[in-house]
Amino acid sequence: MPTGISELHESVIDQVLDLNGSPEVILQSTIDLLHSTMPGWDWVGIYFLRGDKLILGPYKGTDTEHKEIKVGEGVCGSAIKENANKIVDDVTTVENYIACTPNTKSEIVVLIKYQDEVVAQFDVDSDKAANFTPQDEEFLIEVADLVGPYCRVLATKS
Ligand code: SME
Repeated sequence: MPTGISELHESVIDQVLDLNGSPEVILQSTIDLLHSTMPGWDWVGIYFLRGDKLILGPYKGTDTEHKEIKVGEGVCGSAIKENANKIVDDVTTVENYIACTPNTKSEIVVLIKYQDEVVAQFDVDSDKAANFTPQDEEFLIEVADLVGPYCRVLATKS
């Protein structure tokens, strides 16, 4: 199958495949790996979908006030409402944008599914404009497939 993902993407996927431990450990390690490996991925996190809210799970980067986001709000909530991944090259163009830090210039959100049902999402911010490509989206979809079962466990945990 032709793929747009790079050697760097492949190497991260191999490292995610090698992770062991509880769902909490695997998800935090995945986030840490993405943050430390991918260029310009300055804030990396997972939001779990619970009812009509996104609840912040593991993340790496500046602490954020946005621990809960309603479906429909911001880039994250819009991705759920529209059932669509998002690549935003310039966050100042998004009307209902929720700023995590004033430094953020671009963002990608990729839905994480378990058995075709959205259970969570990756949210990644960059201090660099237009830092995310369709290949990054393709890569994150692959990572999402790997971590979907763990996200499902934690998304449904109260
Ligand atoms: N920028 C996101 C909010 C999450 S913070 O960036 C961590 C949004 O607009 O939904």
